[in-house]
Amino acid sequence: MNHVAMKPIQVGLLGMGTVGLGTWTVLRRNEEEIVRRAGRPIRITRIGTRSLDKARAATQGVAGVHLTHDLESVVQHPDVDIVVELIGGIEPARTLVLQAIAAGKHVVTANKALLAMHGNEIFAAAHARGVMVAFEAAVAGGIPIIKALREGLTANRIEWIAGIINGTSNFILSEMRATGASFESALAEAQARGYAEADPTFDVEGIDAAHKLTIMSAIAFGVPMHFDAAYAEGISKLTREDIRYAEELGYRIKLLAITRRAKAGIELRVHPTLIPTKRLIANVEGAMNAVLVQGDAVGPTLYSGPGAGAEPTASAVIADLVDVTRMHTADPEHRVPHLAFQPDQLSDTPFLPMGEVVTSYYLRLRVLDRPGVLADITRILADRDISIDAMVQKEPPEGEDQTDIILLTHRTVEKRVMDAIAHIEALATVRGKVVRIRLEALN
Ligand code: HSE
Repeated sequence: MNHVAMKPIQVGLLGMGTVGLGTWTVLRRNEEEIVRRAGRPIRITRIGTRSLDKARAATQGVAGVHLTHDLESVVQHPDVDIVVELIGGIEPARTLVLQAIAAGKHVVTANKALLAMHGNEIFAAAHARGVMVAFEAAVAGGIPIIKALREGLTANRIEWIAGIINGTSNFILSEMRATGASFESALAEAQARGYAEADPTFDVEGIDAAHKLTIMSAIAFGVPMHFDAAYAEGISKLTREDIRYAEELGYRIKLLAITRRAKAGIELRVHPTLIPTKRLIANVEGAMNAVLVQGDAVGPTLYSGPGAGAEPTASAVIADLVDVTRMHTADPEHRVPHLAFQPDQLSDTPFLPMGEVVTSYYLRLRVLDRPGVLADITRILADRDISIDAMVQKEPPEGEDQTDIILLTHRTVEKRVMDAIAHIEALATVRGKVVRIRLEALN
């Protein structure tokens, strides 16, 4: 059969920003290879965008592409087989995706916020209508982590996932550590390179990573999306001092997204985390992402690659387009379930509140350099059954009577540590707030 002669699958693209443009470019550049893989040509025939000029410039000289401001007309057009949603945000993306599904179109989206917050509604609608919603580009940019979790690791009972899944934050932390750059200048550079969200507080406050983690957790454990259960703490309050102290102790600080199946429930948390420098994942720098998955059969597997940017994200969007093209004539019952588990097989395992999470801690205290200070502190920890793993006391600078003490704890329940911190801060010899950063050995 001559695949090139087959009727092309027609794509309606919503959004011609960084990723939209990347998708257009890569799809055209690799057209021949993609046809050989998909079995028929995949063509973007309609583009709905606010930036018509940009779309006009990109598509100049290419016949058969219709540009419009009217996004709904793209979604409803009878010739469109697949709608690619790359506008981001909740509205109008949610309405347009639901309209596309109702009109019987398959959907490819990179919209992590939309899926984390409204995924249950969207997947239920897609299931009822018998269409596919593919979302590889929503998590970790170009890394095929959705495919790996949903298909490659399908034999496993997944135990935990730990990922560096926000390129902007990782870029900022890498720059601060390696070059001593300030938080602000590193963020401005990440924005200039097109990594950051429209609202960069989503990046630096852990929200974007929590969106992506919510999606991975659902696929890994067969639970509905519960973004409301996610704990998110960002990197905006981290100091260069703590980055340096961590380094001296053999750790690197990363914004880590962790989901774990514990006895009492599922952990879903994003926060700055000390990771031993010797772990491969600790050395993933810049806008690169990495996801470490622990499966009971396979053990640990690590996936890394570019987590943001035009063509890496386009790589994931187009992989979904090829998948949908291959599967769209298949009977819906024989396709891979959207969320890896059969839709009637989702479990209602509870999510754990942060106070119940078990992990280790880095604590930094500013204290008066007096006899008995350390004894008071260790007593408070011992009373709460918190065991110390390592301790460093810095020599006070010349002429000062205050110094830093850094404690690393063994694994313990978070609420005990919070209670200990409150009592430590109440000591007359302890100055200011205790810095508390979680630590994961990842072994
Ligand atoms: N703002 C995101 C990041 C882009 O920095 O990783 C990819 O989702």
